[in-house]
Amino acid sequence: MTKILVIHGPNLNLLGQREVNIYGKVTIDAINKDLKKLAKAKKAALTIVQSDHEGEIVELIGRSKGKYGAILINPAAYTHTSVAIRDAISAVNVPTVEIHLSNIYAREEFRHTSLISAVAKGQICGFGKMSYLLGLEAAIALAAE
Ligand code: DQA
Repeated sequence: MTKILVIHGPNLNLLGQREVNIYGKVTIDAINKDLKKLAKAKKAALTIVQSDHEGEIVELIGRSKGKYGAILINPAAYTHTSVAIRDAISAVNVPTVEIHLSNIYAREEFRHTSLISAVAKGQICGFGKMSYLLGLEAAIALAAE
């Protein structure tokens, strides 16, 4: 069975309450529920983790080689700051899909730079919950390659 590691970065546990004008009312539980439904239909198994801690995310990625066929990650604020997460993705060489709920290129300038995208297979942003579902489709396809 295809195994996918799903990582939600910092503050994404607060979805539904946090900046609803930007992220909408969708909760992380609703996203995870839909991800699991899609995974089941595609016969994939998900490990889903939310972490506010950069080091924990780095460790998760570092241990992913040989365990997961692909990684789906919303690095949240670490997108714009974390050389450590970027290096972890680059080091393990597990195909990685970067996703964002919002269109980071239509927001503040500091969000226009992703340190992750150069080491990801690709990036999907701006589609809200659908970014995760499109990202999971891509991750499952990459894992099968
Ligand atoms: C985000 C965009 C980031 O800029 C922000 O820091 C987040 C969420 C998104 O999903 O749109 O926390 O990754």
